[in-house]
Amino acid sequence: MDTAAPPRLTVIGTGYLGATHAVCMASLGFEVLGVDVDADKIAKLASGQVPFFEPGLPELLAKTLESGRLRFTTSYAEAAEFGDVHFICVGTPQMPGSDACDISYVDAAVGALAPHLTRRALVVGKSTVPVGTAARLTHTVRELAPAGEEVELAWNPEFLREGYAVDDTLRPDRLVFGVASEWARERLTAAFRPVIDAGTPVVVTDLATAELVKVAANSFLATKISYINAMAEVCEATGADVSDLAAALAHDDRIGGRFLQPGLGFGGGCLPKDIRAFAHRAEEIGVGQAVSFLREVDAINRRRRSRTVDLVRELLGGRLDGKRIACLGAAFKPNSDDIRDAPALDVARTMHGLGAYVRVYDPAALDNARRAYPELRYGSSALDVARDADVVVLLTEWAEFRQIDPEAMAKVTAHRRIVDGRHALDPEVWRAAGWEYRALGRSWPDDRRGGH
Ligand code: UDX
Repeated sequence: MDTAAPPRLTVIGTGYLGATHAVCMASLGFEVLGVDVDADKIAKLASGQVPFFEPGLPELLAKTLESGRLRFTTSYAEAAEFGDVHFICVGTPQMPGSDACDISYVDAAVGALAPHLTRRALVVGKSTVPVGTAARLTHTVRELAPAGEEVELAWNPEFLREGYAVDDTLRPDRLVFGVASEWARERLTAAFRPVIDAGTPVVVTDLATAELVKVAANSFLATKISYINAMAEVCEATGADVSDLAAALAHDDRIGGRFLQPGLGFGGGCLPKDIRAFAHRAEEIGVGQAVSFLREVDAINRRRRSRTVDLVRELLGGRLDGKRIACLGAAFKPNSDDIRDAPALDVARTMHGLGAYVRVYDPAALDNARRAYPELRYGSSALDVARDADVVVLLTEWAEFRQIDPEAMAKVTAHRRIVDGRHALDPEVWRAAGWEYRALGRSWPDDRRGGH
């Protein structure tokens, strides 16, 4: 094989991470084969449909399919035959009934690919896994592959955010290469040549460090969010205002304002399960105490959800049963249709369980929400679900919710009461329009003295 030629790439697992990676790498000029065991998903992608909501991805998929550089298959034999560098992008969800992460999809992908590897190749893990997985898989790959020692394993964690996945893949903050040899480093460098040439910093390290970078980054981000939400709890007890507090902290460059947005807290398919899996893994290897604070980070985050329900109840005079509640938002964050561990739906379901008549609207996640929680009621717009509502609760900060005209909304609701779970609205504007406005960690005129 000519190592100077760009390597041919396969991307195994075509979910959020894999589909985006495959499309972006093809857009950079590589020959790419996307692989998945789900024939429906492969058929959709091959016909130009992205099976999830990701701005910019459908357009780029169409372009790369047309270029002929991107193809899809369900065959591992074809993948092994085609690829020089194989990226493993399958999911690692939280194990049911445990905090550990389920790495069975990674094991299955590697186990299915390796027996077909008859020549020198690099297998690169991108999935988020417990530290130590790469070392174990190195042995598995070599045992199963006919090419034996010729096959190497590397780890290249992915930091993409949903909603910005294309940009984060094409222009990442950094690339992390966890490698066990100079050859693996060279192959990965060749596989990311255009990204590196664009000035992206590269950190080359060992396998274990590369695995840890991902969970360490997500733990830090989760901690930052829970930190400001812990401050919100203190503000609630003292009549102080967490929004002003966060704004003041953000002026300190050492702290910075990003991921310091108080409110309902974090959800999604990464942050919650990654901190749990990290704490679990740390306990397994005897360093649980080092990251025991992550349990607290998780607990603070969960409390935001129940406290939001409390705030709605307080605003309704102490009772939820029989009340009509309009929930704006279902996705775990805006610009996404992902409802995995979505704080919005957690709050909506709790209020439904307490006897409220809950109606939910989300610009992108309604289909997913309907499928997962058929017991809730859904509407076709913010104003639709707000009709005759006793209270409106903003749970995901979509741009279209920020732009709602308080007067227009007041015309359809039964009462002018709003809980802003994401600190997305201007309280002055809503209060001026006669609304009772509440947000976690924010004081309100009648409660300046605090202690509620
Ligand atoms: C995250 C990481 O950002 C990304 O680097 C990693 O690869 C995957 O996990 P993602 O899950 O797409 O990405 O969402 P992100 O934008 O990080 O938001 C996570 C959650 O935190 C959302 O529920 C969001 O609403 C919440 N959040 C974020 C806050 O509550 N406050 C903030 O200040 C920022």
